[in-house]
Amino acid sequence: TGPGTYSPTGEATGADQAVLAQSGARLTNTQGARLPDSDHSLKAGERGPVLLQDHHLREKITHFDHERIPERVVHARGAAAHGVFRGYGTAATVSKAHFLGEGVETPVFVRFSTVLGSRGSADTVRDTRGFATKFYTAEGTFDLVGNNIPVFFIQDAIKFPDVIHAGKPHPDREIPQAQSAHDTFWDFVSLHTEATHHTLWNMSDRGIPRSFRMMEGFGIHTFRLVDAGGRTTLAKFHWKPKLGVHSLTWEEAQIINGVDPDFHRRDLADAIEAGAFPEWELGVQTFPDTPEQTFEGVDLLDPTKIVPEEWAPVQPVGLLTLNANPSNYFAETEQVAFHPGHLVPGIDVTDDPLLAGRLFSYIDTQITRLGGPNFAQIPVNRPHAPVNDMLRDGMHQTAVHAGVAPYRPNSLDGGCPFLAGADERGFVETPVAIPQGARKVREAPASFDDHTSHPRRFYLSLTPVEREHVIAAYTFELSKCYENAIKERTLRVLADIDPGLCAQVAAGLGLPAPEPSGPLADVEPSPALSQVGRAWPVT
Ligand code: HEM
Repeated sequence: TGPGTYSPTGEATGADQAVLAQSGARLTNTQGARLPDSDHSLKAGERGPVLLQDHHLREKITHFDHERIPERVVHARGAAAHGVFRGYGTAATVSKAHFLGEGVETPVFVRFSTVLGSRGSADTVRDTRGFATKFYTAEGTFDLVGNNIPVFFIQDAIKFPDVIHAGKPHPDREIPQAQSAHDTFWDFVSLHTEATHHTLWNMSDRGIPRSFRMMEGFGIHTFRLVDAGGRTTLAKFHWKPKLGVHSLTWEEAQIINGVDPDFHRRDLADAIEAGAFPEWELGVQTFPDTPEQTFEGVDLLDPTKIVPEEWAPVQPVGLLTLNANPSNYFAETEQVAFHPGHLVPGIDVTDDPLLAGRLFSYIDTQITRLGGPNFAQIPVNRPHAPVNDMLRDGMHQTAVHAGVAPYRPNSLDGGCPFLAGADERGFVETPVAIPQGARKVREAPASFDDHTSHPRRFYLSLTPVEREHVIAAYTFELSKCYENAIKERTLRVLADIDPGLCAQVAAGLGLPAPEPSGPLADVEPSPALSQVGRAWPVT
């Protein structure tokens, strides 16, 4: 039951099984029969027809025909690395999660990605970056499936297919492949003003990171932490890169895309190979778990909002070091399956409606992408904690389950495994109270209505150079739209964020600048939102 083992028979073990696929000095077919020739088909005479009885030919080609699996519906292009996470123990006051304990070392696998491009697209495009971490903890796997931008486009998962359809290439010509510069994207974000905050981050330097090693990461949603005494605290997760936060200029990104479309994945692999292991500190912002689930007026269930770090400082809880490259891209980077519902005792979800939809979506898509319900048995997805579930059979089942049918209670054959008692670190959902008299509704709360104050704070927090980049990015991207109505609508959105920003983008587009629709949101800048000089003093 140690790392890499899964089968109850103890025979089919993770890493060993992978090696078995290519063992022995002689070339064989899939059945182990040694092959003297794999370069010529079996023919009736040297120049005669190929014979149907050539099973080796058919096996080789048939397997090749099925080598590809569907790419991820989003985040298709990625690069990954193995590493280790070491807890500082500082989180003990808010979470009982064992892997956060002082000095506890947990193996991890991290996959970075772009969102919109296909698997073969370029690295240095303007896009959000995924930052997904699988912690193989002693208490089961915990996945922190985050991005390099702390907010999201939408507030409710039911709109996720819509925003992705708008952002992916146009259905007729399949262009543009990997960038936001097209009509449906700008139509969507100008009609859905809750997307303004995320879009503004995309148009800032954060949209074109210099390296995966120089990006922040964010869990985005508010999570609920539980301590050993059962007390709960709301929290947001942050990854802080030891190298600081750095970006490319737009011009650099364009040249690199042409010269080396693999720039980010090469940079990550080269750094690790050279022993320059990238490091991030994991930190949490914590908030009291009040019935309102707000902090200083910010609705903590709204994923389009942040809590400025000046109001709730990020407290370091552990260190992530990436120290090994995958040995096989398909086996590891392509087949890894993250899920925001992979939680461990001490970390629970909240009722953020975007998170709720994610809890359904990932396993569902992976059943298609990875060919059935048993992908947790793929080596990179195997927990390092003992697995003793009641799931059986299905496509690509590799475990050989022993004993009678798994049901509980069960008096045959020694019965089923014991359930974890409260003192045995079982995962228990927090018994959060449901509001009395709640009605079923398809509505968003009024607290989700503010779509301007957070993007305005972000823009006001940027340095002059960063603002220049934002203006140039909006101008360039909007100039690629065919429809003037979309440009004009976007300018009206920008007028409510900052009239100066709106005026300069309008000038660049040769369009009149509209007036704000009302008084501008009264917000203070948060200097922590600027990436200039953001180096994180890793302890
Ligand atoms: C994949 C992050 C919202 C559906 C991913 C990945 C990341 C990510 C990092 C790539 C994982 C990998 O490297 O394998 C986020 C964040 C979100 C968000 C931070 C919002 C805060 C959503 C929503 C949905 C969704 C709302 C659907 C309702 C998916 C799907 C995949 C994916 C289907 C592909 C998974 C796979 O094929 O393994 N997401 N996502 N995401 N996401 Fe999200």
